[in-house]
Amino acid sequence: MTVLYTRYPVFFLIQFENRKTGEGITCLVPCTVKMGILVEPALLLVLWQSVWALDIPLEIRQPPAIIKQSMKEHIVDPKDTMVIECEARGNPHPIFSWRRNGKYFNVARDSQTSMRRRSGTLDIYAWNNPEQYEAEYQCIASNEYGSAYSNKIRLRLYRPPVWPREVLEPVVVSAGLPLVLSCDPPRGPPFNWPVQTAFPTMQPVRPDRRVSMGVNGDLYFSNILFNDSAADYCCNARFPYKNVIQQKMPVVVKVLTSEYVSRTVAEAAPTWLSPTGSSSSILVLQGEELLLECIGAGVPTPGITWTKNGDDLVVSPRMKVKNFNKMVQIPKASFDDAGEYTCTATNKIGYIEHTITVRVKAAPFWLEKPTDLVLAPEENGRLLCHSDGAPRPTVSWFINGEPIETATPQPNRQVSGDTLTLRSVTTANTAVYQCNVSNQFGYLMANAFVNVLHATPRIIGPRNELIKVIEGSRTLLDCRYFGSPVPELRCCPIHTNVV
Ligand SMILES: *[C@@H]1O[C@H](CO)[C@@H](O)[C@H](O)[C@H]1NC(C)=O
Ligand SMILES: *[C@@H]1O[C@H](CO)[C@@H](O)[C@H](O)[C@H]1NC(C)=O
Repeated sequence: MTVLYTRYPVFFLIQFENRKTGEGITCLVPCTVKMGILVEPALLLVLWQSVWALDIPLEIRQPPAIIKQSMKEHIVDPKDTMVIECEARGNPHPIFSWRRNGKYFNVARDSQTSMRRRSGTLDIYAWNNPEQYEAEYQCIASNEYGSAYSNKIRLRLYRPPVWPREVLEPVVVSAGLPLVLSCDPPRGPPFNWPVQTAFPTMQPVRPDRRVSMGVNGDLYFSNILFNDSAADYCCNARFPYKNVIQQKMPVVVKVLTSEYVSRTVAEAAPTWLSPTGSSSSILVLQGEELLLECIGAGVPTPGITWTKNGDDLVVSPRMKVKNFNKMVQIPKASFDDAGEYTCTATNKIGYIEHTITVRVKAAPFWLEKPTDLVLAPEENGRLLCHSDGAPRPTVSWFINGEPIETATPQPNRQVSGDTLTLRSVTTANTAVYQCNVSNQFGYLMANAFVNVLHATPRIIGPRNELIKVIEGSRTLLDCRYFGSPVPELRCCPIHTNVV
């Protein structure tokens, strides 16, 4: 095909043809060209095909697809209406049902729960007994062509973290000795979320070589000085959910002055405050934060150095050494970060070492997710569920939510690992297929439908739009079309002055 180079209005004549049946249609896409180069036909073809692959127009009958759902770990505030989202599309419009802890959840018979119209989203009004709703939910969207499944959504109630109103005994300590003031922030949910702490006395404690705030919120003194005495050491914890700050009851620290008022303290060799002992291990998931912390005690305050696998630690741009060398922070761990990290605490009396073995694992992640397929009878199709993780995930397949092993066998369907192949399809193959890739660190579930139908080619959306093209620039001509089998596209601009 040739593109005309013209000063006059030009139409693109686009023809679709179904090779087997000869059915066809013509789409006239006019465009005005000031002068110069028209859109290259190859580009047009690519654009149209990708538009087509993105969404199958809802005018076409099709199995359901889930388009919105709550997070797998869904934390809600029981003081508000608790909402679990589930939205799906399909033609006919899907009907929704729910499972709770693996069993059918009869929403209609639960007076505190309602499902939104034309949607699966649940509103739960349970101000008196919200705990009853802490469970694992799964939404199912069905129509006559199949059933799509949401993830399993674990609903957890947010409980404001509070420390017990206990009175803490004063801490009495001799100068020169190490001291740890514990923080012990209340546990969630939210679970395992980072806690940031400060111990404000008259003014906040300023961390230095000698004084550190650990990742767990504890306050470490490598050795106590006389002027560490204070009446109000208290830990402040900030909880990211709702940005709540909670304060622990204050604790009094009294530093004993020796009787003969010697203001010098005895020197002491390094020991470990955190971690303790000579070795420990950390398991981190790829992409998560890795924090290595070594805090030592001793007089004078020991300095900390790091090695990795026996060599000096190379501080790459992906990592930060913080807190006066006492912490190595890697915001997004990768497999290269695995190894043996040794920290050494040294002062003029001696040194000690601690080795942290870091193992890096990975929850499953997608290499290629299965995509919805529209096939004409007798065509072949393939769903690919390609993932990786450490350990390597196992793949399981489902048809409309039923394990493929127990589903009605179909001789033209074959599953081999991460690939499901359909040969010479019939409408009996129309369904929503699920694959679940999982390892001990998590799972990913994808729904993809196979829609076997015969559809004559058609144009979707507005026709005969006038598009102004700027000289020398590329332009998108939006002429969405649909057909099954995928129509063959022919494109030829015709020179005309008639509009
Ligand atoms: C996926 O498989 C894992 C492992 O069997 C399971 O724990 C998880 O609940 C499954 N997810 C769904 C949505 O069925
Ligand atoms: C406490 O004493 C040390 C050494 O005697 C001194 O360096 C430090 O500034 C003092 N801190 C405060 C808060 O007065």
